[in-house]
Amino acid sequence: MQAKSLISITDFTKGEYLKIMHLAEDFEANPNQKLLQGKVIATLFFEPSTRTRLSFETAINRLGGKIIGFSDSSSSSVSKGETLHDTIRMVSNYADMIIMRHPLEGSARYAAEISNVPVINAGDGANQHPSQTLLDMYSILKTQGRLDNINLFLVGDLKYGRTVHSLIMALLQFENPIFNFIAPPELALPNEYKIHLTEKGIRYFEHAEFTDIINAADIIYMTRVQKERFIDPVEYEKVKNIYILRNEMLRNTKSTMKILHPLPRINEIHTDVDSNPKAYYFTQAKNGVFTRMAIIAHLLNLK
Ligand code: CP
Repeated sequence: MQAKSLISITDFTKGEYLKIMHLAEDFEANPNQKLLQGKVIATLFFEPSTRTRLSFETAINRLGGKIIGFSDSSSSSVSKGETLHDTIRMVSNYADMIIMRHPLEGSARYAAEISNVPVINAGDGANQHPSQTLLDMYSILKTQGRLDNINLFLVGDLKYGRTVHSLIMALLQFENPIFNFIAPPELALPNEYKIHLTEKGIRYFEHAEFTDIINAADIIYMTRVQKERFIDPVEYEKVKNIYILRNEMLRNTKSTMKILHPLPRINEIHTDVDSNPKAYYFTQAKNGVFTRMAIIAHLLNLK
């Protein structure tokens, strides 16, 4: 039987989301639980990362596990031409779990089909980033006290932003989400997601302007324009500074509203926002450690 993996956010049920939230809360209260003693986890990063890799590795260390892997595939035999197939086949003989980031959409699903140990998708191209979504949900739950009835504003690169795609799919499992998409036409949410929302009878609104419509938000989810996904650099130059959130724009937003961003940020959130109590993105990144401890514990049946 194939091991249970986390490739798409839709691989988990609503019950599993809630279990992860509960476990994350438990790990936040008590972060040093040696549940992974004697286990080896591989982190294979074929694309750059700061938060995802380091928070997974912190999670593994806090759980008492050992880490193998690479943060740059040029130091592996991939640089000699070894295929993803053979790499996964080998590493799944060494480790109890594989955490992989790869630029190709669908690569994580492919890896899970080859591997005989669980695979966690740490981002596959512009497709999905499910562990980010679970930490985003944990951040929403912690700050809003609920996952139902959330008015979510997603801003920026909704075309290539994999964290956006995963978060929309996850919140569909909860009551009455309202989605507001703020993006230029070039970076609009792919139609497949809009069709899915329409089929489910979920309300969504599209805006090209970044105005005081944000005053209705429970969460403003800012995103970086994903330079690395553009084929034509001229197209990137046209949209790279399209939306910048500044402190003065927050004056009439809800007192309970929080700003999330998966990070890294370039300039889409001005640094004058950082000291505003509504800025939550650095705490959000910290929540990644507890959430990723929870995901690992759940997939390996440690809790
Ligand atoms: N949020 C996120 O995926 O950040 P990194 O690219 O630094 O891992």
